[in-house]
Amino acid sequence: MVNTKVNLLGIELDNPIIPASGTFGYGYEYAELYDINCLGSFSFKGTTLEPRFGNPTPRIAECASGMINSVGLQNPGVDAVIAHELPELKKHFHKPVMANVCGFSVEEYTEVCRRLDGEEQIGWFEVNVSCPNVHGGGLSFGTSPEAAASVVRSVKKVTTKPIIIKLSPNVTDIVTIAKACEDAGADGISLINTLLGMRIDLKTKRPVVANKMGGFSGPAVKPVAVRMVYQVYDAVKIPVVGMGGVSTAEDVIEMMLAGATAVEVGTANLPNPYASKEIIDALPAAMEKYKIKNLSDIIGGAH
Ligand code: FUM
Repeated sequence: MVNTKVNLLGIELDNPIIPASGTFGYGYEYAELYDINCLGSFSFKGTTLEPRFGNPTPRIAECASGMINSVGLQNPGVDAVIAHELPELKKHFHKPVMANVCGFSVEEYTEVCRRLDGEEQIGWFEVNVSCPNVHGGGLSFGTSPEAAASVVRSVKKVTTKPIIIKLSPNVTDIVTIAKACEDAGADGISLINTLLGMRIDLKTKRPVVANKMGGFSGPAVKPVAVRMVYQVYDAVKIPVVGMGGVSTAEDVIEMMLAGATAVEVGTANLPNPYASKEIIDALPAAMEKYKIKNLSDIIGGAH
């Protein structure tokens, strides 16, 4: 009998599997397919102050071992999330949820967190300073240690819930940014968001996605993610949530050995909406195979 439980910032998870923001809607959509209470938790779609329609289409390009998206933070806005999405989620999911928060200014990040702070089901904020698909927000905060830290400092003032800051791989020095966020009061770090990528259609000779570039994700990015989780785990004392190309139970174990306390599953949910559940179901056998009794014992085990 193996133990898959982990503790993420004071909240015990039945297992470390968390479907990643942008691949799992507001959760209840997947409840039509299976009982989503098998999940450790999930991170809901990046939510902004105002509703957003997102970027022009096409927004998706297929790639070998991955895909590019340029959704552009389509979401109904924080007030609609509070009025409609969270009450609907509560009917189906009976565990704490991670709130992914986005913004175009420090004030916007702060106001979204302030409005969501009263929502009982929110266990953690995942403050997303790494979306590559919008101008003047997201990634522009995540490429500078000072800007990322200023977002952390400001959101910390409006909530007592744990703040996990979601970082981008599109930087030269991930460690400096992670440490700046830790020093500013972040409770955890999640990484990696997508890598900026591009595809060109040979027939039209034009970029495939309307926004020209987008975020590349999927199994091809996993070695980059494992490397960055490993580096950040080494540099900070706060927990790391690992993600990037995770699609099997073995990938989860690898990410935890690199230093992840919990593991987000993203792109794998898109071609196969059962992917997160299948990974959870496969986890005990993979643990037995690699002689792991308590999953939490292996966090950072490769160091
Ligand atoms: O374009 C998007 O909505 C993606 C968001 C993200 O990568 O954080």
